[in-house]
Amino acid sequence: MISSKAYGSKQKREARRWFKEWSNDYDRTLGKMARHHALLDLAVKLARPKDGEQILDVGCGTGLLTLKFLKAADCSVTAVDSSCEMLAIFQKKIETLRLKRRATCKEQDAASLSFQDNCFDIVASTVALHHVKDKLPMVKKIFRILRSGGRFALGDIDLDTTGRITDPKRLRRVMDYLKDELTMALEDGGPEALSRMFDNGKKHLFNDGEYAVDFSRWANLCKQAGFGPIALRPLREFKRFKVLVAYKA
Ligand SMILES: C[S@@+](CC[C@H](N)C(=O)[O-])C[C@H]1O[C@@H](n2cnc3c(N)ncnc32)[C@H](O)[C@@H]1O
Repeated sequence: MISSKAYGSKQKREARRWFKEWSNDYDRTLGKMARHHALLDLAVKLARPKDGEQILDVGCGTGLLTLKFLKAADCSVTAVDSSCEMLAIFQKKIETLRLKRRATCKEQDAASLSFQDNCFDIVASTVALHHVKDKLPMVKKIFRILRSGGRFALGDIDLDTTGRITDPKRLRRVMDYLKDELTMALEDGGPEALSRMFDNGKKHLFNDGEYAVDFSRWANLCKQAGFGPIALRPLREFKRFKVLVAYKA
């Protein structure tokens, strides 16, 4: 089920190396942050999963979002990620928690999702899709694989980190965000979480595999892809993070 494919560019290989290295301490670092769990909870709440629905979790990592969906409704989830190490950790959880009939893991790149049209009720993703540089084709594909009445729920950082790294305004914007993010990491996960989120922050500062855009841009991409009403909700705990829900009529 989980294979090791040699696909992608040098940047993608570097991103996979990064997540391979992070996988073993993911649940002790970002996974310890209350802010992160609040984002996942908000994404699940706004996606409104119902019993019997089929959900796709894109960039599932160690499965934190999928597990929340499975708890919220009697739904089933297909979870994809480009890191086989993250997926291996999630697969162990699926087995330990006896969720095999409701959750399936697959190694797939978010930029080249290979599902048929109209096969999911919800496509959800948290803090993963900002890693995809060319976003419009991916959002169009998400639109196609959703059934009519389906929802795209996206939880991510609401911050434009793209642009020139020589731009002082950009530097200030990212530093501003990091001030709160790193403080929360230390409070919730201790020095290990601080260190990991600091390294993560550096990748944002230097545009190193991170292509975060603000949520007005995400909303625009959804409109261009054909989505109907689009709702945005900031996280109470940290307004730099938002959840967007886009509906397919
Ligand atoms: C910060 S983790 C988020 C994991 C999970 N969604 C959560 O909220 O806890 C980002 C995940 O996105 C995955 N990822 C990054 N780029 C990806 C891509 N192009 N395609 C699929 N997964 C990707 C990484 O491997 C990693 O597991």
